[in-house]
Amino acid sequence: MFIEISENSTDFTDDDIINEAITFMLAGQDSVGAGIAFTLFYLAKHVEIQMKVIQEIDSIYERNSNLSITELNDMIFLEQCLKESLRLAPSVPIISRVLTEDVVLGFKFAILEMKVIISTILRYYKISLAPPHENLTFSYKTTLKAKDGIWLCLKPRHKGMSI
Ligand SMILES: *[C@@H]1O[C@H](CO)[C@@H](O)[C@H](O)[C@H]1NC(C)=O
Ligand SMILES: *[C@@H]1O[C@H](CO)[C@@H](O)[C@H](O)[C@H]1NC(C)=O
Ligand SMILES: *[C@@H]1O[C@H](CO)[C@@H](O)[C@H](O)[C@H]1NC(C)=O
Repeated sequence: MFIEISENSTDFTDDDIINEAITFMLAGQDSVGAGIAFTLFYLAKHVEIQMKVIQEIDSIYERNSNLSITELNDMIFLEQCLKESLRLAPSVPIISRVLTEDVVLGFKFAILEMKVIISTILRYYKISLAPPHENLTFSYKTTLKAKDGIWLCLKPRHKGMSI
């Protein structure tokens, strides 16, 4: 599609194609990675919320351990946690574009990816903060990062065992 656009237009160059491709790769990986990491951090910090997420995913995995779109859509509380984490720590806090008309963004795939990864981690591990890394300091490199990294402790949990 980009090549077609560039062939039709004089102000969409090869460099623009490369830049758009990089944006896609960044948008598809780095932002999802950051979203997962920050959500895990906040779930480690708020153990009672983590317990609610675990209850939700345990009941879903008990019903069907083969995750399909139905199971992922049922992870409603986890989705709320993801959205709250993204509000507190937006993966991509700045977008250097000005829209000329309203656009409906294709975010759903990213949410599904994050649900698969976080629910799989929480199915097997209880996560907690790793002192003294209790607070986040943000740094900004196109996507949002934690300045000193995100440090968490993972403890194996057995199925059905609460925190
Ligand atoms: C490019 O131009 C052709 C011929 O005018 C048109 O059919 C096509 O839809 C255009 N493509 C884009 C992406 O604008
Ligand atoms: C999960 O899906 C795989 C592949 O479709 C299938 O072989 C397996 O039997 C399923 N397991 C359960 C528990 O439904
Ligand atoms: C984290 O932040 C809280 C609240 O501001 C503060 O009380 C605590 O000392 C901080 N922890 C560390 C390790 O800096």
